[in-house]
Amino acid sequence: VLQASSSSLRPSATVSAIELADIDWDNLGFGLQPTDYMYFMKCDQGGTFTKGQLKRFGNIELNPSAGVLNYGQGLFEGLKAYRKEDGNILLFRPEENALRMKMGAERMCMPSPSVEQFVEAVKDTVLANKRWIPPQGKGSLYIRPLLMGSGAVLGLAPAPEYTFLIYVSPVGNYFKEGLAPINLIVESELHRATPGGTGGVKTIGNYAAVLKAQSAAKAKGYSDVLYLDCVHKRYLEEVSSCNIFVVKGNVISTPSIKGTILPGITRKSIIDVARSQGFEVEERLVSVDELVEADEVFCTGTAVVVSPVGSVTYHGKKVSYGDGIGAVSQQLYTVLTRLQMGLAEDNMNWTVEL
Ligand code: COI
Repeated sequence: VLQASSSSLRPSATVSAIELADIDWDNLGFGLQPTDYMYFMKCDQGGTFTKGQLKRFGNIELNPSAGVLNYGQGLFEGLKAYRKEDGNILLFRPEENALRMKMGAERMCMPSPSVEQFVEAVKDTVLANKRWIPPQGKGSLYIRPLLMGSGAVLGLAPAPEYTFLIYVSPVGNYFKEGLAPINLIVESELHRATPGGTGGVKTIGNYAAVLKAQSAAKAKGYSDVLYLDCVHKRYLEEVSSCNIFVVKGNVISTPSIKGTILPGITRKSIIDVARSQGFEVEERLVSVDELVEADEVFCTGTAVVVSPVGSVTYHGKKVSYGDGIGAVSQQLYTVLTRLQMGLAEDNMNWTVEL
């Protein structure tokens, strides 16, 4: 066990000769590649998280009656580390993930690590696994923090104990299409979220709830599902694992955050990037009918980055958006990823160098 959160014991970020794990870096997809270490931190009965530890990556033990297993009391986060050209490491907006986990924990009746504990734990985990960060241009290190009710509970109630854990995996493109446009189908019967529910936080149950529609869509050859609001069955919400944007001329529109949509950190960043590039961005109700008139549609997320949409099918009618990657999607993807990889100056102060 390596002791974490101690500067004297923290592995150095300086990489003179980059030592890389021996895997095929040219063919990374989005799947779990076990790495060397994971981070583990428990909270006491008073709800305070104490000093964490790096442990060898591996299975964890849980009581069969753990809150997360029985009542879904769990949250996750997703963020990425990138290798710069000089070999040093950049994290992208880790405090935002820490804050989003805190917000979700409040909704799910869970204690959460402080922002500082979260960010320090991410840094320690990334540095302990730095040989798994892909060479620049080949992908990134996906960082998956988890917060779970690990204490035993049988009657329905918040668990008496919580565990915060981080594991990482080198990843490439999320969709099997790579950077090529994806094909979505609009789902009008099954819904991802309801007003007053938990759609606006990153709880594990939100992702279980989309598997049925997603599997059916994939079986029909679609890349993923675009959900509608459950009240009017008319306004766009999000795709199973990412937010959605619609481009018409110089205006880029995206559904506003109102409790049923995940407040994506890439979503928020792309809104700022688009404005800085001279686009007008509107956060509002976006009707499914607007897909017909749109010039371009794209998705954003930590895992998907900026993913162009090639077509959307709604009630059997397919609307296509040209052959290749749309110019706006390409522009925003390029500006964002250059910043994330340290290839452009970070005027926004979004990256954290290790
Ligand atoms: C992410 O983009 O980080 C997510 O959490 C989505 C997940 C389903 C891969």
